[in-house]
Amino acid sequence: MSKLPGNAGVSVLGDKSLEFYRDPVSFCRQRIEKHRGRVFLSRLLNRPTALVCSVEAMRELLCEKSNQFLKDPTDLMTNMYGDTIVTTNGKQRCLLMQTETCVFCLYSVCERCLKDLSVSGQPQCGYSVYKRLGTELVLGLFLNVRAEEQPELFEEISQLCITHWHGLISAPISVKAPLWSSGFSTALDARDKLMDIIRDKLQNDKQGFVGSLGSLPLPDSGSAAQHLLLFISALIPKALASLLTSFTLALSGKEQEEARRRAREDPDFLHRVLLEVQRLWPPFIGGRRLAEQDSTLAGFLVPKDYGVVYISHCVHRDPEVFQQPDSFLPERWSGRNAGQEHFLCSFGNGPRNCIGPKLTNVFLKEACMYLLKHYDWCLDPLSQDLEYKWLPVSRPANPPTVSFTTTGCDRSDAS
Ligand code: HEM
Repeated sequence: MSKLPGNAGVSVLGDKSLEFYRDPVSFCRQRIEKHRGRVFLSRLLNRPTALVCSVEAMRELLCEKSNQFLKDPTDLMTNMYGDTIVTTNGKQRCLLMQTETCVFCLYSVCERCLKDLSVSGQPQCGYSVYKRLGTELVLGLFLNVRAEEQPELFEEISQLCITHWHGLISAPISVKAPLWSSGFSTALDARDKLMDIIRDKLQNDKQGFVGSLGSLPLPDSGSAAQHLLLFISALIPKALASLLTSFTLALSGKEQEEARRRAREDPDFLHRVLLEVQRLWPPFIGGRRLAEQDSTLAGFLVPKDYGVVYISHCVHRDPEVFQQPDSFLPERWSGRNAGQEHFLCSFGNGPRNCIGPKLTNVFLKEACMYLLKHYDWCLDPLSQDLEYKWLPVSRPANPPTVSFTTTGCDRSDAS
């Protein structure tokens, strides 16, 4: 059994968290090159941490050895969200998954948010439009709050979600002075207000998801509200907007006209496009586990109490599995990589993967199909800086502007 390449340095001074959080992708790329391998050691959050950038080691970590590498119950998510299933032992996920059968008119949300993209004739910031779409989706679906029926409540909750989100990404220092409070403390206040609204909904609304969640036999009365807080938070709209932005960019311009036509007419091709979008631009950088006992990953010793972080961006570009890893090639999913969706980890993997990929998939297809049926689009201006930032949720650092024009198909639909 070999030692992990790299080193964890000394406590505190050897910590690389800042460098990692500034640009996790470059951090990993440099080390993959230096160590000539996709699993290596560093020090993150002041703990020796193995970074996993290969498909093989990701599968071992999240699937085969999921009972040896456990989620960390003490991370920042717990501060801001309380004990949700993301941080606790996962038993409640089975119960929550039963609530998936909700009737919700996705089309009308897409119609409301996307129908005016070409009206002004001016380039649009797709990312902002998609974030609004994602927010309408989660508030409608999980809380029965629809923007068109209760605009004031909708705006109030959206604002609280944004403030709460800023707490997640600010320093966890809770300070309140008469004329000033830290971002973290303001975020905790927003969380309390959101929890009041959620508890009220759980008690009084018997319809839809919130209604069925209210009647689930969860272990204590608080846990349904904690789960809902996670579901309606800005995290999911941002992840949806990230994927829709990457989709828009991947299929933009004259040169992708044929790909747009195929995606519009062939649902299997659209499916392959979306797999390729999540492979190249996963919304979340990855996930973290702690070694419960001495164990191994890709043949390297990982001692008890080490952290392990999988980096989806790098796993998805592992050349052992994905040839021409940096190229956008939807056809790979009907060729060499057919049936290998389980080698992706944009939604995690194994027993503690995300519970939302099916819902996300239905939603994304609806939104993408709406765009494809109604619009052609291209970057405007054509030359823009499309460099991605990867944390906290991936997207081009400067959200690009895009011109949408009505397609021939849309005109014939309308007539
Ligand atoms: C684009 C959309 C989404 C992305 C990219 C995404 C991504 C992820 C990832 C990567 C994880 C695993 C983290 C880890 O390994 O530690 C995860 C877990 C989770 N996600 Fe999602 N998610 C999305 C949408 C959703 C939705 C719509 C829901 C709610 C229905 C949801 C609920 C959860 C929950 C509850 C967990 C924790 C599961 C557990 O720990 O057992 N996610 N998600």
